[in-house]
Amino acid sequence: MLVTLTEILAEAKKGKYAVGAFNVPNLESLEATIAAAEELNVPVIIQHAEVHEDMIHLEEIGPIMVDAAKRAKVPVCVHYDHGATFDLCVKAIQLGFTGIMNDASTKPYEDNVRETAELVKIAHAVGVGVEAELGQMFNSSVGGGEGRSAVQLENFASEDDCYTNPLQAKDFVERTGVDCLAIAFGTSHGVYLTKPVLDLNRIAQIKEAIDIPFVMHGGSGVSDEDFKVAINNGICKINYYTYGAMAGAEAVRKMMEEKGDQKVFYHDIVAAGKEGIKENVKHAMEVFCSPIL
Ligand code: 13P
Ligand code: ZN
Repeated sequence: MLVTLTEILAEAKKGKYAVGAFNVPNLESLEATIAAAEELNVPVIIQHAEVHEDMIHLEEIGPIMVDAAKRAKVPVCVHYDHGATFDLCVKAIQLGFTGIMNDASTKPYEDNVRETAELVKIAHAVGVGVEAELGQMFNSSVGGGEGRSAVQLENFASEDDCYTNPLQAKDFVERTGVDCLAIAFGTSHGVYLTKPVLDLNRIAQIKEAIDIPFVMHGGSGVSDEDFKVAINNGICKINYYTYGAMAGAEAVRKMMEEKGDQKVFYHDIVAAGKEGIKENVKHAMEVFCSPIL
């Protein structure tokens, strides 16, 4: 059943769990993600990231995502992730997406406020929820091109300079009317080069200043323990892609090795990849949604 970003996150906030938000740049990952959510009977957010336009266009995968969400047995939000192009954000709304993210965190603060407020006005007119980002996710990883906002830590005086400032978050939310906020506290897109060190307290400090659902980006590689504390401190949406995609590839590799000299068909590869993604995202969902399981 198709639900809005606002609805799905309001339930998560109330129930003290986080909804997994998974990028689905192909049919296999889309079907695997919905199947995993249905098997566990948990809500889910499926996303198309703007940087995945080179894998599949919004106009191709978007209608398929919306249709799959409508047919699903669990609540599904269809979200436009890391939207950096105004026209594509509007296109996502026209295609029936129920959530959009305006990614302007690397732009000057006032530009981020203005752009986000403009999109909120358009999206709210048709009942679509909006996510925006404040603070900088620095680049301590490889791969993971979903975020345009990854920056080098060397360019900042300290980590504190990149992380979301609680008072600025309050000002931002009040001036934009945004429904949820992606906050920076040490996570990074892609595969972490070193064990992530997260400022999990920062989430609670931001929540004290402004009590709306918060979003963690760069979920792949974060420990189950850190997820639990982050959720307890106010994270209601966790964006996760890289590890699911890697698990799909690993399952294909294993299947090919097992087949040895036997004939392999392309549909065998697709099926193995899909199963690998499903098992991986299922584990993530179990961790994120444990209070409702
Ligand atoms: P990972 O690919 O690091 O899990 O991050 C996903 C993400 O933040 C998508 O917006
Ligand atoms: Zn992201």
